[in-house]
Amino acid sequence: MSKVYDIATLPGDGIGEEVVREGLKVLDAAEEVFSFGTKRTHLPYGADHYLKTGETMPETEFDRIRDMDAVLLGAIGDPRIEVGKLEFAIIAGLRFKLDLYVNLRPIKLFDARFCPLKDKEPGDVDMLICRENTEGAYAGIYGHLRKGTPEEVAHQSMIYTRKGVERIIRYAFERAMERPRKKVTLIDKANALRSQDLWTRTFAEVGREYPEIETDHAYIDAACMWMVKNPEWFDVAVTPNLFGDIITDLGAMVQGGMGIAASGNIHPGRVSMFEPIHGSAPKYRGQNKANPIATIMAVSMMLDFLGEKEAGRAIEDVVAGLLREGRIRSLSAGVHGTDEIGTMVAEGLRGRS
Ligand code: IPM
Ligand code: MN
Repeated sequence: MSKVYDIATLPGDGIGEEVVREGLKVLDAAEEVFSFGTKRTHLPYGADHYLKTGETMPETEFDRIRDMDAVLLGAIGDPRIEVGKLEFAIIAGLRFKLDLYVNLRPIKLFDARFCPLKDKEPGDVDMLICRENTEGAYAGIYGHLRKGTPEEVAHQSMIYTRKGVERIIRYAFERAMERPRKKVTLIDKANALRSQDLWTRTFAEVGREYPEIETDHAYIDAACMWMVKNPEWFDVAVTPNLFGDIITDLGAMVQGGMGIAASGNIHPGRVSMFEPIHGSAPKYRGQNKANPIATIMAVSMMLDFLGEKEAGRAIEDVVAGLLREGRIRSLSAGVHGTDEIGTMVAEGLRGRS
């Protein structure tokens, strides 16, 4: 009997529905070719659901998801709703409530013409950013004093626990062991944020357990510079939550833009969530213009996580081929139809000999 995976789909807002539809089209093809199945549960949460019912995402749904294998999310965010409300309830809700402590963001260039940097080839841009996903500035410890007055004070704390820092650093070293270069770079700002000394010490301690791995360090400001000047210096990198958020948007541009950048929100061995890095792009909603490749690559990451490694790799190979051969001419919205790209990848999978 082939395996059947229990998957929740959460298309969310804006272009989410269209890109997830194409991701699932590719998943259908992968199931046929690689002989596995999925049981899919559709979750309706997002702006429309909130405006209709006043509910963001109920606690019972998080409980239901805990027993599943994976979640595929489209995008959350809608200008009709107070900034951050749905993002916090749904995206951060999944990350925090399911303890998805790894935000894995591969940055890989498939063809030189998608890179905005001069003279960079695919071999120069191939890195794996491990963003801590449950602590730091996102922990939700903030407040206002004397709000709305000229004397207002606002604060937000970045918190790090030894456990939280150690597990993401260890994850980064484990991933580096699987890669040929065997290098991990710690990206922090410990020169100014002295609490991040916890990262410095933990990185050194864990690093001693992996003598095969070369270690390196960059402060976040310098890392942004190196990412543009010499992206080939990075292999695996590990970094706190907020820095990981920022540097992976930069990384996304280096690999060709938000149309291609995917991510996994992972707790090894437990239900995990996969999503494109891009937002909901409400202006493109329902126009068949959004590029679904980032979501398709999220499906590839999801299959790799589920243990369907061959299927995950095949999706990446088909996408890479379409990009290299120029059948996908551009990663920008509106050049190809959303459904056109999904069909190309699904057919490419079925046509592999
Ligand atoms: C991301 C997004 C989220 C984040 C937002 C939507 C809360 O930018 O997944 O990178 O900041 O983590
Ligand atoms: Mn972001």
